[in-house]
Amino acid sequence: MSQSEATAVACANIAFVKYWGNLDADRRLPLNDSLSMNLSAATTTTHVRFDPRLAADRVALDGETRYGPTRARVVAHLDRVRRRAGIGTRAEVTSANSFPMGTGIASSASGFAALTLAAVGAVGLERSEEELSVLARLGSGSAARSVPGGFVEWRAADTDAGSFARSLAPPEHWDLRDVVAVVSRDHKAVGSADGHTAARTSPYLGARLAELPPRLGAVRRALLARDLASLGPAAEAEALSLHAVAMTSRPPVLYWQPGTLALLHVVRRWRSQGLGVYFTLDAGPNVHLLCEGHDAAAVEAELAHLDYVEFSLHNRPGGAARLVTAAQDVPA
Ligand code: PMV
Repeated sequence: MSQSEATAVACANIAFVKYWGNLDADRRLPLNDSLSMNLSAATTTTHVRFDPRLAADRVALDGETRYGPTRARVVAHLDRVRRRAGIGTRAEVTSANSFPMGTGIASSASGFAALTLAAVGAVGLERSEEELSVLARLGSGSAARSVPGGFVEWRAADTDAGSFARSLAPPEHWDLRDVVAVVSRDHKAVGSADGHTAARTSPYLGARLAELPPRLGAVRRALLARDLASLGPAAEAEALSLHAVAMTSRPPVLYWQPGTLALLHVVRRWRSQGLGVYFTLDAGPNVHLLCEGHDAAAVEAELAHLDYVEFSLHNRPGGAARLVTAAQDVPA
């Protein structure tokens, strides 16, 4: 194989109904369907170059060469692409995030979606969006949802090929915003892979799974109807349900920091004062504030008064993962 390369950009995403727990951890087959929105301001740009002169894969993320488990996870993903392409050529991977690294904004979804498109593009494989979503899922479950654009649904299935994400509606469907309030830059103590495993030890997992089918229906309808008054309470209940399972896992997983809890109360207070804002959370302490475009400036202005919020990141619905030409957005 001669040298070949490609660059891809993908958005991170925030789930309104979340993935927490696996049917099959090796293949990252989730226990339940999930629904999300891509985040326009939280992107990863990844360049992959396969080069027959390389003796080993090289991985640089945000300007630093990586070794250990981070590199191993990228190499394992390159191996999946190499197996599908029938090649053994090593690659150089250079990746950069649009948001400050190490700030608790999950980058594995955008990272593995961008890596999937760039690696598949570099080896010249033709793959459908569904197949790309399946492949991204094997790198990081939620990366399956960063392949299609806008508002996205990821179906649970018991086969590898059956569990992929699809767009429910394009980004322009609804001017929904996610203002991420960063209250802690600390690297989370328990990564999501361990969190998914721990979920099985919570006595509340069964109760959570039982409440998901009606919640999925309600969230899907609210997204399609652009109905924040229905989406918001469901998204809040869902975030608390995930954290209830995490907190009751054995041993317990506690992602919240003081600023997390303070923000949950503050969001309720702002809402009682007439602001259309709701919270959701990922597996970390930072709070995602959901509002419509016409309330976003007011939400940001309120956040600016809170000294426990280090900074915020304002997202609109983001597009699908895509290949870009070398001149565009190539990471340094
Ligand atoms: O894709 P992972 O293994 O990083 O898991 C993501 C888990 C949550 O962010 C908490 C929920 C979700 O569906 O995105």
